Amino acid sequence: MKAFRGEPSIFASARPEDRRAELEIKRLTLKFGGITALNNVELTVRTGELVAIIGPNGAGKTSLLNCITGYYKPQEGQIFFNGQEITRMSPHHLTHLGIGRTYQNIELFPGMTVLANMLLARHIHSHYGLGKAALFSKSVKDEEVRHRKILEELIDFLEMQSIRKKLVGSLPYGLRKRVELGRALALEPKLLILDEPFAGMTLEEKEDMVRF
Ligand SMILES: Nc1ncnc2c1ncn2[C@@H]1O[C@H](COP(=O)(O)OP(=O)(O)O)[C@@H](O)[C@H]1O
Ligand SMILES: [Mg+2]
Repeated sequence: MKAFRGEPSIFASARPEDRRAELEIKRLTLKFGGITALNNVELTVRTGELVAIIGPNGAGKTSLLNCITGYYKPQEGQIFFNGQEITRMSPHHLTHLGIGRTYQNIELFPGMTVLANMLLARHIHSHYGLGKAALFSKSVKDEEVRHRKILEELIDFLEMQSIRKKLVGSLPYGLRKRVELGRALALEPKLLILDEPFAGMTLEEKEDMVRF
């Protein structure tokens, strides 16, 4: 048993302005043909808040998260993140703005190792192009060191040391969920969206997840 666990430095070192995560959803409506998945949804999330969205199957939880992360385009309403309107932006763009997520059905590369899956996520944080990387300048080296440091911290934090070199496809479901959480955190998101973080887990796997 562990009595205390520190915050990974990716969060501790973030300046307050880099942590800001104000989400404002106004009168969001999403329809699929005749089905209204979201009807005038209003939601506000403030910096530092942990908000759970509950509701039965088909209530529209995933649809709402998919609108926030750019996968679904709502017909009406607006979404603001830190004061900027982000309604109908691309998922890629939203990732860059600091919105990270996991999926109801795990979306990892099963043929790659845990570490490789997480390194891929770090990619969007690379500030250098191929030319600079080829020269392997000091700044590139510094950045590589930072990538590694953050990944190592996350692996420690999520207690994944023993599976870091394992192929994701070989892991039990609960561990894959944990890797997905790690991958999402590796993006250093300001807003982290988890779709059904406990679904399909055993009791023990849930207990593990709750500790994080
Ligand atoms: N891509 C889609 N195409 C058509 N209908 C969809 C799609 N995604 C969700 N829906 C419908 O929207 C409603 C809400 O679904 P969903 O957001 O998945 O609910 P929840 O995540 O709360 O279980 C359901 O009626 C579902 O069938
Ligand atoms: Mg769902």
